[in-house]
Amino acid sequence: MSFVITIDGPAGAGKSTTARAVADRLGFLYVDTGALYRALAFKVLSLGLSAEDEPALERCAQETRLGLAGTPGASQVWLDGVEVGGEIRTPAVSEMSSRLAARPGIRRQLVELQRSLRVKGPLVAEGRDLGTVVFPDAEVKIYLDADHETRVKRRHQELVRRGLPVQVEDVAADLQRRDERDRLRADSPLVAAPDAVLLDTSGMSAEQQVTAVLELARKHPRFPHRAADAREAG
Ligand code: DC
Repeated sequence: MSFVITIDGPAGAGKSTTARAVADRLGFLYVDTGALYRALAFKVLSLGLSAEDEPALERCAQETRLGLAGTPGASQVWLDGVEVGGEIRTPAVSEMSSRLAARPGIRRQLVELQRSLRVKGPLVAEGRDLGTVVFPDAEVKIYLDADHETRVKRRHQELVRRGLPVQVEDVAADLQRRDERDRLRADSPLVAAPDAVLLDTSGMSAEQQVTAVLELARKHPRFPHRAADAREAG
């Protein structure tokens, strides 16, 4: 089985930045599981489906082709044969993805897809339930967190960078609502796996976060040194 690093945590904790950079440095596959929930949410919104209509949502998920491709630095998300980008990062899609993610029938389908990616090689997967549900036997499990203010600031900056003019207060409210739903749902709630290493990134730079994860990975007895070193030397 391929070596797996999981990075879980709430929105704005630094998961994407860290996971991408770690995957890039090690030459591992980068798996952004939130992007799958987001792509499906984008389709659900485009079709005008209700977030309450469970049978219609499950049918939609069954009929949808989702895929992740590209490199950690230029990752691609595919929805029914079309690449999607910034349109899956809007506040409306964030909210819908969190609502869909609370539905067990939807989760089951997306978890299956995520697990199937392990055959492609060693990977870094980020999301909410990677260390607890998707890859409970992952070699390295990280749970990233940061204080609310830091997370709001990061998410706000990210949205502004993407050209989405949003008020900080709205970002704070969205984040709180989404995190609450993600933490309190019955199926696969956001929680640190008992064997996860907890990192509070509030006062950490991105480079410090990456270094901390790389150190943990490298000292694992099954870490594939030869492949990763060849990649770093190249
Ligand atoms: O990581 P993100 O913000 O792109 O994720 C969007 C939503 O998808 C998040 O609010 C909860 C859900 N999600 C999940 O439930 N499980 C995952 N493994 C990844 C994301």
